[in-house]
Amino acid sequence: HVEVLIDVDTGVDDALALSFAALHPDINLRAVTCVAGNASLDNVYRNTRAVLSIAGAGHVPVARGASRPLIAAPRDAAHVHGHNGLAGLELAVPEADGSDIHAVELMRREILASPTSPTLIALAPLTNVALLLRMYPEVAARLERIVFMGGSASIGNATPVAEFNSWADPEAVAIVVDSSIPTVMYGLDVFYSAAVSEDDVAALERSSRPVAQLCAKLFRHMAVKDSDQKRIPAGTIAALGDAGTVCAVVDPAGLTTHRFPVSVCTDGSRSRGQTIVDRRSHRGESELNGASLGQPVDVALAVDGARLAQLFRR
Ligand code: BDR
Ligand code: CA
Repeated sequence: HVEVLIDVDTGVDDALALSFAALHPDINLRAVTCVAGNASLDNVYRNTRAVLSIAGAGHVPVARGASRPLIAAPRDAAHVHGHNGLAGLELAVPEADGSDIHAVELMRREILASPTSPTLIALAPLTNVALLLRMYPEVAARLERIVFMGGSASIGNATPVAEFNSWADPEAVAIVVDSSIPTVMYGLDVFYSAAVSEDDVAALERSSRPVAQLCAKLFRHMAVKDSDQKRIPAGTIAALGDAGTVCAVVDPAGLTTHRFPVSVCTDGSRSRGQTIVDRRSHRGESELNGASLGQPVDVALAVDGARLAQLFRR
């Protein structure tokens, strides 16, 4: 069993990730926290509760967190995720439980209540996680690790060099990376490489389970965009995206990581939001002149995409 907290900006692929987390028997999903990112905080909160309910996890506590990044202006991704952040699907949204607990307070509560050190999986701009680290550093230090979807050691998507989550709130990435909590970066180097086939999606469509049918619809929505951009492997039709991050927590053998110093560009230049992964084996002139290389992060550089896709389908 892994005790897990998930921070989301649901978000089509966040919905896939939540569905998988809700159903996998090795995951004890303790809490889900919402942050503005792919969609507005209100839409994220609604989408998240709707998806958890369909996945049979309506009992998992959900809380609203930051409605915008720490410093930057909020910018959504409606062109990718649809006007409501969930491919335009209108799902039944269960009543909120009426508790008004903030995302950071829910994370704190569940970290303290967890029988073993929990893993925090962040699939969105890192604003809530950064706030937790600033407000309750001693509580955050109890985390087993932070596994975040974001960043890149190669090309970006939001900009030529910056991945969306990292670009949306670079200052939050800096806070997370500079913390001494063990951190795994599941970035764009692997994000598009774990993807489902037509056969996988057809199997989900044939299932009588509403959660499987929901996942199929979400994959169909992503299929157009992923194949358009030619970023997914031959023979597949849609990336697992954020869901791959959760699959890799359950099945770490599907992921190859290397520990490198990582920093993030937080200035206003065109490289704002770029994660700078130092993959060199030698020191260069910049450090000899005192520049910092960043903190060690386990950066995912390769993924067994077929293996993770099969795990998701099962
Ligand atoms: C990330 O941004 C969103 O589009 C996805 O949900 C994922 O978290 C990819 O850059
Ligand atoms: Ca996301």
